[in-house]
Amino acid sequence: MSTRIVALCGSLRSASRNQQVLNAAIDIAPSLDAIITQGKFDDVPLYNQDVQDAGVPPAVTTLAQSIANADAVLIVSPEYNYSVPGVLKNVIDWLSRMSPQPFAGKAVAIMGTSPGAIGTARMQYHLRQTLVFLDAHPLNKPEVMIGSYSDKFDEGKLIDAKALEMVERQLVSLIAWSKQLRAL
Ligand SMILES: Cc1cc2nc3c(=O)[nH]c(=O)nc-3n(C[C@H](O)[C@H](O)[C@H](O)COP(=O)(O)O)c2cc1C
Repeated sequence: MSTRIVALCGSLRSASRNQQVLNAAIDIAPSLDAIITQGKFDDVPLYNQDVQDAGVPPAVTTLAQSIANADAVLIVSPEYNYSVPGVLKNVIDWLSRMSPQPFAGKAVAIMGTSPGAIGTARMQYHLRQTLVFLDAHPLNKPEVMIGSYSDKFDEGKLIDAKALEMVERQLVSLIAWSKQLRAL
């Protein structure tokens, strides 16, 4: 059976380079016997316990269910102010309130791209810290940090051969990691 991966993108903008990296991963996945479905969260409100107490928004419960049903999660995100973008942290904060915890025991891979040299490294290590509380199992390697992105995209697509190879290699490792975890 194909490996089912739910993906989250930490940028909501239409011309997002990170979304374009995710699009490349979505295109590569079938050749690896995997299917990536993107989890949307642009309509998730800001976390507020009063809102939670009044009823968890359907967008959150739907996303939690799709993560719970998936074999693995892929997070592709920019770095904002040396850390995780607020929109992504907000949806993770919502998901962290769900019981059973959808991320628990789940294989998670992280990718990111930025115009600067270190390709979202600081965001990725902050995100790994958050994944500890969620009891997720982030993939260690290979890391996908696509820096200096200005010449790596063309007409809305990731075209850099080395970056595309890294995306594919990480997906291969994520699929293997999720199988290892599910066999435990
Ligand atoms: C609020 C904000 C904060 C940012 N902070 C960083 C940062 O800390 N490090 C970095 O490399 N780029 C930073 N950038 C630049 C982003 O990497 C760049 O805008 C990138 O294209 C955003 O990702 P996207 O194309 O997927 O939307 C920041 C951009 C914004 C809007």
